[in-house]
Amino acid sequence: MPTPSFLTDHLAAGIISSEDFQLAEALLAEDQGQLFADWDSPGTRDDEKRAFLQTLQNCNRSYPGGLVAYIRNARRLLAESATGGNPFADYTPAEPDLVDLSNFGPAYEEAEGVGLKSLAATAIVLVAGGLGERLGYHGIKLDIPVEVTETTSYLAHYTAVIRAASKRLGREIPLVIMTSRETNAGTIATLEANKNFGLAPGQITILNQELVPALSDIDAHLSIEKKYNLNLKPHGHGDIHTLLHTSGTAKKFAASGIRHLLFIQDTNGQVFNAALAALGVSEIRGYDFNSIAVNRIPGEAVGGIARLSKPGAPDLTLNVEYNYLDPLLRETVNPAGDVAEPNGFSRFPGNINLLVVRLEPYLRVLESSGGVIAEFVNPKFSDASRTKFKKPARLETLMQDLPKSFVSGEKVGVTIFDRVWCFSACKNNLVDAAAKVATNGPAESASSAENDFYLAGRMKLRAAGMEVIEAPQKTLSGIPLVPGPRVILRPSFALTLADVRARISGGSISGESTLVLDGDVTLENVTIADGASLVAKAPEGGTLEIKDRTVTRRGAVHDLVPLTDAEMASSDVPEYLRIRGYHIVAREA
Ligand code: UTP
Repeated sequence: MPTPSFLTDHLAAGIISSEDFQLAEALLAEDQGQLFADWDSPGTRDDEKRAFLQTLQNCNRSYPGGLVAYIRNARRLLAESATGGNPFADYTPAEPDLVDLSNFGPAYEEAEGVGLKSLAATAIVLVAGGLGERLGYHGIKLDIPVEVTETTSYLAHYTAVIRAASKRLGREIPLVIMTSRETNAGTIATLEANKNFGLAPGQITILNQELVPALSDIDAHLSIEKKYNLNLKPHGHGDIHTLLHTSGTAKKFAASGIRHLLFIQDTNGQVFNAALAALGVSEIRGYDFNSIAVNRIPGEAVGGIARLSKPGAPDLTLNVEYNYLDPLLRETVNPAGDVAEPNGFSRFPGNINLLVVRLEPYLRVLESSGGVIAEFVNPKFSDASRTKFKKPARLETLMQDLPKSFVSGEKVGVTIFDRVWCFSACKNNLVDAAAKVATNGPAESASSAENDFYLAGRMKLRAAGMEVIEAPQKTLSGIPLVPGPRVILRPSFALTLADVRARISGGSISGESTLVLDGDVTLENVTIADGASLVAKAPEGGTLEIKDRTVTRRGAVHDLVPLTDAEMASSDVPEYLRIRGYHIVAREA
């Protein structure tokens, strides 16, 4: 095909570079003439043309194989999607290989002990490029406080765990943060303002995910938003695999002795309650890929993890979206579909996207796939012939789909934990969260996440034998909350359940009280009365022992006070409080 003259004219006039020219030619060869249709003559809107080509170059650089590979992959996947069947149609589902630690017990203790050692050779990978549209918070989600007793952000909490574990294990545990166009600047600013939260220089790696071009039709024509503006969309959290590969980070970790990667999300304050035991299970069972999962009620709108088999192919253990799982079960092993077992739960545990991946097989998969993992496309068709879209689609990739690329008999398993112990995310704004509660769904609001953060603290106290009497449940902005005791056990105080047991003996806590333990503190036979607060922080390098004491409301108190309608509507009240509907007022004595 001859190169159109307008391109050679623009090249000759020095408006586009020879690299731009080559890319444009390659795109035209892929039937992408719409990108350059009705271009103005040289001299008109040249800056916009340059910016447009710059965007195309960025997309070309960030996608393995470039835009041509993206378009060809899109064409293939769109053709497959046009048939509209269940993507798992020829598979038979069975229960995955799993370890159930939801009731704690000796197996839990053993796994946690093994996991703590294993953490010394683990890198934490935090995917934080999401837009957070459901929450609608006007900042990065990592800045949102997981609790407002002392106001600790998610990032401060995660890094506190990494700091405490690094100190304890004598090894700087690396942290990777995946950002996106929406979150990159905010994440960097937060790290700078907080001096990397005390992590060493070089301990944090930021990998920024790029958007991908939207597709306007079944032939994978790239969509133009308006003249000289490419329509771009997020590619999904599976980009983390591409970036760990293309940046050389995964390889660098392997060279430095890292054996596992722990993938976590931006707003789940519970993750490190379960992560060590999950790491331990990976070690004990030799799992190459281990999903931290929860018991799932049949039909619940959460993907179920299943082992899928078909003749002549290796088994796959994968997250199957609930709208595919039930029909697949009906067509294969159970005409009743996804039903409850005697324990009330589905045989297929719920995926919460917390993953422990062994680095060695991971590197192999990255190498062979170029880092592009199990892309898919989900166009919403507007016509019965399934050729036209309601709105532009794009290729997507999900980090939990990694096992789709396993071809060498990698061992995939699942570790089930008590739900609130391992997962309580802050995803929804208050109005939507209340609507979910009204239909028996999880709130997943800032308030329910904070509520569960304290609940995990109470679970740890109980495990150590302390008596815990909860305050009666209240409903605030339509979300049920247990207003106390509000218990925060900092990572510097305890990383494991065994640590909590070693530091706390006897005592009791009740009602709307507060307990914060930070650093090398021990409590022996301490009673904290309803409404009272004990905030015990050991000085750096020092210890603090509290023994045979009763703390009453006459001293420090932290009161949870709902925001008034005026406060909820006022921009003077921090948004992180308005997304939960209350604040906690401290009076220290
Ligand atoms: P979520 O779907 O929970 O978060 O993603 P979201 O995309 O921010 O939320 P909504 O759907 O817009 O309301 C799970 C995790 O994956 C990350 C998110 O930041 C979160 O930690 N994520 C998601 C990415 O890093 N990149 C993406 O492209 C999408």
